[in-house]
Amino acid sequence: MELQAHWWRDAAIYQIYVRSFADSNGDGEGDLAGIRERLPHLSELGVDAIWLTPFYVSPLADGGYDVADYRDVDPRFGTLEDFDALLAAAHDLDLRVIIDIVPNHSSSAHRWFREAVAAEPGSPERARYLFRDGLGPDGEQPPNNWKSIFGGPAWTRLKRPDGTPEQWYLHLFDAEQPDFDWTNPEVHDEFDDVLRFWLERGVDGFRIDVAHGMVKDPALPDIAENAKADLLDGSTTLPYFDQDGVHEIYRRWAAIVAEYPGDRAMVAEAWVEDADRIARYLRPDELHQAFNFEYLTAPWEAGRLREVVDRSLAANGAVGAPSTWVLSNHDVTRHVTRFGGGEQGLRRARAATLLMLALPGSVYLYQGEELGLPEVTDLPEDALQDPTWERSGRTERGRDGCRVPLPWTEGPSPCGFGPEGSEPWLPLPEGWGGLSRASQRGVEGSTLELYRHALRLRRELEALGDGPMTWLDAPENVLYFEREPGVRCAVNLGEEPAEIAADGEVLAASGTVEGPSGGSLTLPGDTAVWIRA
Ligand code: GLC
Ligand code: CA
Repeated sequence: MELQAHWWRDAAIYQIYVRSFADSNGDGEGDLAGIRERLPHLSELGVDAIWLTPFYVSPLADGGYDVADYRDVDPRFGTLEDFDALLAAAHDLDLRVIIDIVPNHSSSAHRWFREAVAAEPGSPERARYLFRDGLGPDGEQPPNNWKSIFGGPAWTRLKRPDGTPEQWYLHLFDAEQPDFDWTNPEVHDEFDDVLRFWLERGVDGFRIDVAHGMVKDPALPDIAENAKADLLDGSTTLPYFDQDGVHEIYRRWAAIVAEYPGDRAMVAEAWVEDADRIARYLRPDELHQAFNFEYLTAPWEAGRLREVVDRSLAANGAVGAPSTWVLSNHDVTRHVTRFGGGEQGLRRARAATLLMLALPGSVYLYQGEELGLPEVTDLPEDALQDPTWERSGRTERGRDGCRVPLPWTEGPSPCGFGPEGSEPWLPLPEGWGGLSRASQRGVEGSTLELYRHALRLRRELEALGDGPMTWLDAPENVLYFEREPGVRCAVNLGEEPAEIAADGEVLAASGTVEGPSGGSLTLPGDTAVWIRA
């Protein structure tokens, strides 16, 4: 098979959570115009592409992953003209643009769902979603025991305007996110057309939301009472995840995408445990990439990380696909905090970044990680917006803590996220101005400058990005590997300093490192280096 240089094989792709990136008009929500204004910062950072989370018309019951119109921009985020202007400005800066496509479910405010509710059971309108009669004499029991990923049952019962209860509909997520019925050809045609709509506008690809979820076991069988219904614990045994039928959808989409010039790419968000099962989404006639959640969820531990790296490379290599690496996104606790928080968390996060950027394949960066932002764990309860909070009976705070708007400038809130005096949709913690882009830009040793430096080297050095890697001998708790002869990365995941055999110069370091001298280098704990012999 030909391994020509597809841009996505080694790209650094920066995830923009649209609502929290930059607010151009002061209404408290990030928007497309805000992104366009700040694109030069991303080009300066040195990324190759951006991925925009959903900006479509939406009631924002799940931050926009509840789409009411797949072909238009929500007025809060701008207009289609703003989108076109953003795309053109990004392309002028050589930044590619990937957008999010949400095919598992729509918003309950989508025209199709409203028509379905108004129509009769058994009607073509209902057949676009998964409506079923309830169990029990009056149908008062849900059709099965599936649970919503956000908590509570995955079924909600409709009521007629006069209050008479009738059929139930399936929603793997919030009740405002009804699941489509992908056995219905109309659903296929609709999404073919949605893809074409955006391909024609010029997008460089799609991130496919819940890519493992669209096809359900037609028998809708009960799940085990103790089955995990948490997305992050993705399982291959649930009757609504990773069903073989989803691959047919991707073969059809791949053919559509291939009709368009310009090497467009699709990346799967598939929380599937087994690397070989994920690789099935990346067969040559399906998708191009999948997020590596096994890597994201791996602990800061040398042995585990090495296993995950090996497994990912082997599984993806077997289908000719590049591996991808990711540490954070809008659904998980930011990795500074996952790795212990505070100074230690940040030290590890910086080391983890150098490790990730040295691995073969492409990387996904989440907005704010280049500033070393931690998770905000103490948002006031009345500010919480993630549906998880209410659906879990207020026991799980959800994902708002990684979605707090970005600080751009020093000083008090809104720290340049929006015009002075505006109130961001989630409050910025006190002191976040000190983490802002302005306060780190040009400051030696800052996390922002570490990212810029490493991303620049990653572009310049042939050895990095796509290609082979070889593990080298290393002491306990240390990962040490070579990309091409002479270009190496070492990471000390332990807390004590470790000695490694090395010569030459340190190209990049996540902390303070002396040497190498006399054929060896002392690597402090929780620190990574790139070395050139
Ligand atoms: C994906 C998104 C997440 C969303 C869910 C439902 O996992 O990343 O934010 O809540 O899908 O669309
Ligand atoms: Ca705004």
